[in-house]
Amino acid sequence: MNKWRCSVCGYIHEGAELPEKCPICGVGPEEFTLVIETPAPKQAGKRWKCTVCDYVHSGDTPPDKCPVCGVGSELFVLLLDEVLELTTEAVLAAGLDTANSAVDKISYGLYIVTSVKDNKFNGQCCNTLFQLTSNPLRVSVCLNKNNLTHEYLMDSGVFAVSLLTTDQTEAVRRFGYQSGRTTDKFAGVEYIAGKNGCPILKNCLAYIEASILPKKMVDVGTHTLFVADVTAGRMVANQEALTYSFYRSIK
Ligand SMILES: Cc1cc2nc3c(=O)[nH]c(=O)nc-3n(C[C@H](O)[C@H](O)[C@H](O)COP(=O)(O)O)c2cc1C
Repeated sequence: MNKWRCSVCGYIHEGAELPEKCPICGVGPEEFTLVIETPAPKQAGKRWKCTVCDYVHSGDTPPDKCPVCGVGSELFVLLLDEVLELTTEAVLAAGLDTANSAVDKISYGLYIVTSVKDNKFNGQCCNTLFQLTSNPLRVSVCLNKNNLTHEYLMDSGVFAVSLLTTDQTEAVRRFGYQSGRTTDKFAGVEYIAGKNGCPILKNCLAYIEASILPKKMVDVGTHTLFVADVTAGRMVANQEALTYSFYRSIK
């Protein structure tokens, strides 16, 4: 039995042959590589970051199309990973091109933001959840305007966030690499409806429910920044929280 890993979303297919397509993100067999169980040294190569959704692609050239948000290669920037001693010359030579790789080092957690519209549920993976203040308990999330989840938040004015454990990388794939416009992401997923009606993943680390402050929705171009008051929440499991860097290290 072989294991094949999707280079786009990290899905593992087990079988003698390559799959016809990735059941999670839909790419063809050419995007799959055979998993060699003995740890292989990391491949050196260029890294390209999508400026719309932050997806990072490794290869000599950017991909024709972002597998997460669908934009073209022109919206990818090369991450300049070269490290330099900090000198006045290095500071004067730095610009936006070198800033992209610095921004890429910002650390994040990974979460599933969910909402409800016309009695239907949807959700997406999100790394842009921040606690803003403790009193009141206030958070923000930043969502791409093209996402179905964005539409649901706009409509209902409420959302829930399921915080993930390190065992929940499958949820990142399910909610982060496909849109609710083409699939029911909750099919086969165990969840409980929150007090505000939004679904909460049953095996999450912790969750919060939140109510959006309409006057504090900020249009930031491709995305909307939603500022919201936390209305409820609790711890669910005693496990490690999933971070973006951990996810990238095992993807
Ligand atoms: C690790 C990861 C982090 C992501 N973080 C965000 C985010 O903070 N904001 C955002 O708008 N999209 C983010 N995305 C992309 C959305 O999850 C993705 O576009 C999703 O398919 C949207 O689904 P929807 O159309 O059903 O809402 C992220 C994706 C991944 C894989």
